[in-house]
Amino acid sequence: MPWIKPASPPVKWAGGKRQLIPRMRHFFPRECQYNLYIEPFVGGGAVFFHLRPARAVLIDSNAELINFYRVVRDELPALLADFTRHRFTKEYYYQIRDLPVEEMSAVERASRFLYLNKTAYNGLWRVNRQGKFNVPYGRNSPYRPQPAFFETVRGVLQKAELICGDFSVVLEYARGEGTLVYLDPPYHPLSATARFTSYTADAFSEDDQRRLAEVYRVLDRQGCLLMLSNSDTPLIRELYAGYHIHVLQARRNINCRVQDRGEISELLITNYLP
Ligand SMILES: C[S@@+](CC[C@H](N)C(=O)[O-])C[C@H]1O[C@@H](n2cnc3c(N)ncnc32)[C@H](O)[C@@H]1O
Repeated sequence: MPWIKPASPPVKWAGGKRQLIPRMRHFFPRECQYNLYIEPFVGGGAVFFHLRPARAVLIDSNAELINFYRVVRDELPALLADFTRHRFTKEYYYQIRDLPVEEMSAVERASRFLYLNKTAYNGLWRVNRQGKFNVPYGRNSPYRPQPAFFETVRGVLQKAELICGDFSVVLEYARGEGTLVYLDPPYHPLSATARFTSYTADAFSEDDQRRLAEVYRVLDRQGCLLMLSNSDTPLIRELYAGYHIHVLQARRNINCRVQDRGEISELLITNYLP
């Protein structure tokens, strides 16, 4: 099997696994053990872009994110052309941020998404209860997408089916043996004040964590290879008792409070021994 150079995510994403990949590596199954890769909470897709699987299904409930990936895959030249009109000033940023996406074409929406991701404070994607992106301006220097880098991203995405929806649709795509599913949901909060679940208008509740654990059990019974990330809390340990629970040290750096940045332990739960 020839070695394939890992790619990197085109957008910065809260909870992104990019920095954790060197520590997760040891837990990935070998490429010959699966022929279908599914990621039901794809976000920035750090693991997907690292593995570059031959066949993939990527799912996320964030419609702007999935539209962006579709446009990179299917209309990259139009996206790069549209991006050249953006300006890097505070006034322009707020103008673009507050435009109604419903009235835009898929390419314009993807271009706005990339612009906001690269220009917003901390590169965060956060929406309010009405689903409107509400991160303030952050960038001072212009960002220009590199065509060669986006060509690589497009090549990786061409192997993927892109679905906007709830993680439970994974059950329609998983094929039992030979399917690797990596699940990286919004984390169960370590404390009531540590909630960071505003990726989309809907928060991820304790009921969602329980629903997810049920989906994990169904996929396990079907014979899929499963890898799930979550925070190290009593609830998560209870929900996945009986599976292989590994502890990883992770750096959390998307946090407004500097004192809350640093190393914390989090869990990687597999249904196989690495
Ligand atoms: C922790 S992030 C994933 C980060 C990703 N692994 C990365 O490396 O960038 C969680 C993702 O789950 C998505 N999400 C939240 N609720 C969801 C749901 N019910 N179904 C599917 N995706 C959901 C969010 O939009 C977000 O992109």
